[in-house]
Order: sequence, then structure tokens, then C-alpha cells
Amino acid sequence: MNPLRTLILAAADNATVKQVLATAPVSRAVVRRFVAGETTPDAVRATGELVGEGLAVTLDYLGEHTTDRALAEETVRSYLQLLDALHAAALSDRAEVSLKLSAVGQEFDEKLALDNASRVCAAAEQCGTTVTLDMEDHNTTESTLRVLAELRRTWPSVGVALQAYLRRTLDDCRELATAGSRVRLCKGAYAEPEAVAYFGRHEVDRNFVRCANVLLAGAGYPMFATHDPVLIRIIAERARWYDRRPGSFEYQMLYGVRPEEQRRLSLSGHTVRVYVPYGVQWYGYLMRRLAERPANMAFFLRAVAGR
Ligand code: FDA
Repeated sequence: MNPLRTLILAAADNATVKQVLATAPVSRAVVRRFVAGETTPDAVRATGELVGEGLAVTLDYLGEHTTDRALAEETVRSYLQLLDALHAAALSDRAEVSLKLSAVGQEFDEKLALDNASRVCAAAEQCGTTVTLDMEDHNTTESTLRVLAELRRTWPSVGVALQAYLRRTLDDCRELATAGSRVRLCKGAYAEPEAVAYFGRHEVDRNFVRCANVLLAGAGYPMFATHDPVLIRIIAERARWYDRRPGSFEYQMLYGVRPEEQRRLSLSGHTVRVYVPYGVQWYGYLMRRLAERPANMAFFLRAVAGR
């Protein structure tokens, strides 16, 4: 992994850096580029705008590594409130939710995380939509897939993210490329040890393509979460090869990243889902986005310097 990226990801876990940035007058413009706002109405407004442009949405209430039950409960309630609001605004047929299990108790009680995720899945079903589990660092992969399997017994459409940088992911794709399953394939956003993850960019890209082939050849619904123009081109070619029509798979991109490409793909008939984060806990999310692209860091530092 490149040294700047490692450094920024280390800062993502650093309480002092977080305190400085969270209180700097920065941050508003920078945060607004990648985060839809802090409240449920902000999230619903952003969703309405994207849906109005023909895009689908998945919403993430920001927060992770929750270490107490009360905060986990607050996260669940925020999701329930969001789902109600999406339904009331007649948006829930175009908007699902993304959930990090670490935000609902996974780090200290997997059973609690399962129960909490079940409440979100039940509410999503009532609103006519579904849930995708985000994937976090590799220490959580096994537990997340266990919880997924439990959830899918009741809600078979619950999806999961798999990370192409992990050596295990090709096998996980084979396991999950079955009828009814929804898999979001992404490169992976955490700093991982070489024992479990591919290190070089090309190795990760190559594994992304191998995994994409397995998902496209299988009977599930693949969701390709990348902004990488080369991978997007390869996916389009492979989709034709496997006779996958638009609508039998989708592209996903992050709010504020390559918006013109999101619209181009959507106008060419593809389903494009935008991952929309919102909430007050934007710090870890923002640092991962900055780590992905030095140009974003430059944008951020200019804003900190007030230029
Ligand atoms: P890469 O980072 O190689 O970028 C390729 C090109 O895309 C760049 O050259 C640039 O042009 C453009 N680009 C990429 N990122 C950009 C940015 N931040 N700003 C501007 N341009 C940018 N990860 C994870 O570990 N668990 C998860 O659950 C998810 N979920 C998820 C959902 C969705 C919808 C997306 C799009 C991504 C994720 N990710 C994720 C993050 C993912 O793993 C990865 O870190 C980022 O998507 C960046 O990887 P790319 O595939 O875009 O390629």
C-alpha cells in the first residue's frame, strides 16, 4: 500500500487528529462534498435529488466501532427513522440502506449485532426495500458473513460487500454467487496486513476481475462498487460475455465521487446506485475517502488553510 495512504488510514484511528479536524473551521465544504448532511431530512433530500436524476441510492448512517449498547441502540433507531422517512417520501423503492455491523454492537456482542441488524431488516422489508451489510476490516469478515447467513434465512435479499483485496474473497464470491444473493464487490478500504490481503494495485485489480467473473457467471445479483474506469470497462465487456442485461447487475459509486460518470452510466441504461453517507460521525469515512486519492487530500488541505 502506498505510504501516504497508510499514513492517512493511521490518522483515521488517531483521536488527536480527529479532535483537531473535527473542530477546525474546515471542514464544512470538504465534508459536504462526500457526506449528504447530518440529519434524516438531509439524507432524504439528497436521496430525492439523486432519484430525480434516475439514480438509485443506498444510505449509510455514519458511525462505526461502537463500544456500548446505548450507542448501538441509537444507530438502530436512526435507521428505523430513516426508513420511515424514505417510505413517507415515496423513495423506498429506489433507496436501500447500508449497515456496518460494528455500529450496532459487533465488536462486543455478535448476537446483539444480529438482533439489531434484524430490526433494521424487518423495517426495511415493511418499507419495501432491503439492506446491504458493509464489510469492515478483515478481523470482522468471518463474523459478518455469519450474521449475513442468519439474516438471509428470514430476508434472502440482504446483501453484503466483499473486498477484492482480501485473498479469501474469490472463495467467498463462489460461495455467494447463488440465486437470490446480492454481493457488492469493492476493492477494499482498510489498511490490511499482507498475510490476508493483496498488496499491489495490479494484484487487487486482477482479483477484482476474477471475482467479477465468478459473480457474473453465477445466479446472484452482482453490484460493482468502483470508480475505476478500467474496471468499469472490463465489467461492461464481461457482462456482455455472460449475457448479463442491464438490470441484472448494477454499478455503485460513492456520493460526490465521479458524479458525471454516475449519470453517464445511468443514461446508457444501467442501474447506478449512489452510496450516500450522512450523520455527525463523518470522520472515519472522510479519512478513507482522502486516503483513496491524493488529489482529495490536496483539496482538503487547501480548505483547512482557508484557500
Ligand atoms: P481506486 O481507488 O483505484 O480509484 C480508481 C479511480 O477512481 C481513481 O483514479 C479516480 O479517478 C477515481 N476515484 C476513486 N476514489 C475516488 C475518490 N475518493 N475521489 C475522487 N475520485 C476517486 N470498502 C470497504 O472496505 N467496505 C465496504 O463495504 C465498501 N463499500 C463501498 C460501497 C460503494 C458503493 C463504493 C463505491 C465503495 C465502497 N467501498 C467499501 C470502498 C472501496 O473499497 C474503495 O476503497 C473505493 O471505492 C475506491 O476504490 P475504486 O474501486 O474506486 O478504485
